[in-house]
Amino acid sequence: MSIPSSCHQVVLAARPQGAVRETDFRVESAPVREPADGEVLVQARYLSLDPYMRGRMDERKSYAPPVAIGQPMEGESAAQVLVSRHPAYAPGDIVLARTGWRSHATVAASGLRKLDPALAPISTGLGVLGMPGFTAYSGMRFIGQPKSGDTVVVAAASGPVGSLVGQLAQMQGARAVGIAGGVEKCAYVRDELGFDAVIDHRAADFPARLAAACPDGVDVYFENVGGAVWQAVLPLLNKYARVPVCGLIAQYDGVPAGDRNLLPATMREILSRSLTLRGFINTEFAAHYPDFLREVGGAVAGGRIRYREDIVDGLQNAPRAFMDMLKGGNFGKLLVRVS
Ligand SMILES: NC(=O)c1ccc[n+]([C@@H]2O[C@H](COP(=O)([O-])OP(=O)(O)OC[C@H]3O[C@@H](n4cnc5c(N)ncnc54)[C@H](OP(=O)(O)O)[C@@H]3O)[C@@H](O)[C@H]2O)c1
Repeated sequence: MSIPSSCHQVVLAARPQGAVRETDFRVESAPVREPADGEVLVQARYLSLDPYMRGRMDERKSYAPPVAIGQPMEGESAAQVLVSRHPAYAPGDIVLARTGWRSHATVAASGLRKLDPALAPISTGLGVLGMPGFTAYSGMRFIGQPKSGDTVVVAAASGPVGSLVGQLAQMQGARAVGIAGGVEKCAYVRDELGFDAVIDHRAADFPARLAAACPDGVDVYFENVGGAVWQAVLPLLNKYARVPVCGLIAQYDGVPAGDRNLLPATMREILSRSLTLRGFINTEFAAHYPDFLREVGGAVAGGRIRYREDIVDGLQNAPRAFMDMLKGGNFGKLLVRVS
């Protein structure tokens, strides 16, 4: 197969000051490097856009280093092998690869995972059967631990993490209460995903509606959002409630100026109701990935777990799609069709 001489990439042009702007990115072409021994050259088919990428744009101490200015944005793709210098991979293979926001990338074969297009559409390797799905699975299995009859609440409920959290809760016999933004997303979560209840966090009386949807309180709150949603959930938590702290998307651009300081109230409730709040990054549970693929993969194949994808065409449209996602503009797992 012939090697293209150049590829397209999206680089970080500037560190955002608050909300991300299109000028924080630059789309450019770059040379393609021939693979050395142990490497493969891949062509991205789908690029995953994920909220964690917002954190990589800031120069701040975190669980992973920031993207340097002028470097391609970090990210994972479902990609096709064009050239292989590793015996385990051949041209035509479909793999998950950390390509960054690039049309082509030369990467170490040691970091790849093969996808079988006969088992599931390759895009699912970035969503329900990929990192976001595994995040939902591990946060629920090791921290949330819902029991039959429990009430489980999750926000961003139409997204790849939240949608699986609620469905896993129901498979354990728990009640799933979703929180989502807008009429369309709420209808999807209730009618297609089958959650027991769903509340629009944009409704003026959102805290009262959430309380009414949780008459027996909340036993597991899977935290994806923080801010006003956390404020509404906190008074509803039952004694010994578990809170897997997975994401805080409401504050990725900075803590909103009007946000009340919830720390004293949070500490009081942790103490008085014996709450467990446990932050986690999915990679800490990586040893359980095969269990996840077997259990959730089987349920997806059997139609017992549903998912939704939001696919945007063209790598050049990744910055706009990413910015929209941070404000709730995506509807399902956000992917860019690169080729
Ligand atoms: N710890 C880990 O290892 C790990 C791994 C993957 C993801 N995560 C986290 O999990 C969360 C969900 O990720 P995802 O990939 O499934 O994203 P997603 O649901 O596809 O997209 C993010 C969603 O967040 C919601 N949102 C944004 N701002 C909000 C606000 N101020 N208040 C309430 N909701 C808001 C929007 O949904 P609505 O329109 O419905 O509000 C938006 O669609 C994120 O916080 C992410 O950082 C953590």
